[in-house]
Amino acid sequence: QDEQFKKVISHAKEYGYIFQSSEIYDGLSAIYDYGQNGAELKKNIREYWWKAMVQMHDNIVGIDAAIFMHPTTWKASGHVDAFNDPLIDNKDSKKRYRADVLVEDYVAKIEAKIDKEVAKAAKRFGDAFDKEQFVATNPRVVKYQEECSAILKRLGQSLEKEDLADVKALIEELGIADPDTGSKNWTDVKQFNLMFGTKLGASAESATDLYLRPETAQGIFVNFLNVQKTGRMKIPFGIAQTGKAFRNEIIARQFIFRMREFEQMEMQFFIKPGTQQEWYDYWKKTRLKWHLSLGLGTDNYRFHDHEKLAHYADAAADIEFKFPFGFKELEGIHSRTDFDLNQHEQFSGKKLQYFDPEESKSYVPYVLETSIGLDRMFLAVFSNSLMEEDLGDGKTRTVLKLPAVLAPTKAAILPLIKRDGLPELSQKIMNELKWDFNVTYDEKDAVGRRYRRQDAAGTPYCITVDHQSLEDNTVTIRHRDSMEQERVAIDDLRSLILKEVDV
Ligand code: GAP
Repeated sequence: QDEQFKKVISHAKEYGYIFQSSEIYDGLSAIYDYGQNGAELKKNIREYWWKAMVQMHDNIVGIDAAIFMHPTTWKASGHVDAFNDPLIDNKDSKKRYRADVLVEDYVAKIEAKIDKEVAKAAKRFGDAFDKEQFVATNPRVVKYQEECSAILKRLGQSLEKEDLADVKALIEELGIADPDTGSKNWTDVKQFNLMFGTKLGASAESATDLYLRPETAQGIFVNFLNVQKTGRMKIPFGIAQTGKAFRNEIIARQFIFRMREFEQMEMQFFIKPGTQQEWYDYWKKTRLKWHLSLGLGTDNYRFHDHEKLAHYADAAADIEFKFPFGFKELEGIHSRTDFDLNQHEQFSGKKLQYFDPEESKSYVPYVLETSIGLDRMFLAVFSNSLMEEDLGDGKTRTVLKLPAVLAPTKAAILPLIKRDGLPELSQKIMNELKWDFNVTYDEKDAVGRRYRRQDAAGTPYCITVDHQSLEDNTVTIRHRDSMEQERVAIDDLRSLILKEVDV
């Protein structure tokens, strides 16, 4: 697992997807830059989301709010008081950890044991294996499951009650050690606020304290009435937004999974109070369908219903994805009630109500939120697509099987040799195709090596121009995943590729 994850990180760098931020100065931890291919993949994921959420829903519109917001926003939202991580220090190593994550990692180890039991049984029983039944009845698995849920329940309850002494007691009872040194010598658990502060204004005396937004959602809440009125929106309706968010995360060891500067893609759906269960179910289903449409594998997703709820929610679930380091949260679906709009009403003194023409009355709408990290989605797509394929005869290839709609470059144009007019014809094809999608040109090395390069970079199509092309205006198109090649007319290339790469 670790090996696979290391490969993901080095491949992302080698092929221009992700670089450590300010690397020449030795970088900053949990902060990354996207390279020439990464920026394209990220843009394509963002667009894929935007199309599904905004373009395809006639009752959802998009906005782009500022990163800086009035500081009272964060009092109203609860972030000043409650956006904390419980931290614990190891007295020997002097290292700092998130106490809840230490416990969750402990639980993940038990879950890994369950996975192992399942895999063993699946092998033993073959086709006759019924996973659901096995998981529900096998005594060892049932015991592990009970252990996991008891631990998570206690953790959730202690955090909710702010009983930090009990969180520490739990860590000690479970015998959790410092993952780096093995030491079990822990300090008390303390709360630590995750927001980054900065100042607005020139002189020290007149400057105002500001925060970098820790989520994009609040930019939507404070604009709720602006959008509703100017867009003449009728409930139920949604407002979507993508943009940067900042959190002073303590754990910084999972590449772009947990970053200090990251991008969110959020949508707040404003609904009539009392309909939240119906919309909660709808958005859980709709968002899972969006994920599955990318074809990364049904088994790689699961829901995790929260027992421990954030201060604003009456129900919450994560869509978890199987990352190289196990199942982890990819997206959150939260039933936020009227918490946020109520708070902003109180703190701003402005009414944030909707007049419902059908009911002939005004009310503060309830909110259903879908919230996904763009970088985390990038990691899901990228890590799932990277594979080492056995081609027989001791040969292997490294291939990045990105969904074609998301791939940074859709086609590479390769003249078989560097003369006889083949480069010129290749350039002509490039000039025709580049109006519709990204293409690249490569004439160096034998064509087989060029195919491998494009495989590893994630390009779904290679178009090879040879001598026959000069005579009959056909080329070879090679498919990245199957490695199959077919002869097609140059005139058909555009529509053939667009069919696969257009959302
Ligand atoms: N508005 C609700 C909200 O922000 P959240 O669960 O804190 O909820 C939503 O965050 C999503 O944002 C997560 O599911 C995750 O994909 C992403 N996310 C949160 N913190 C992140 C971080 N430090 N680095 C990368 N992505 C993060």
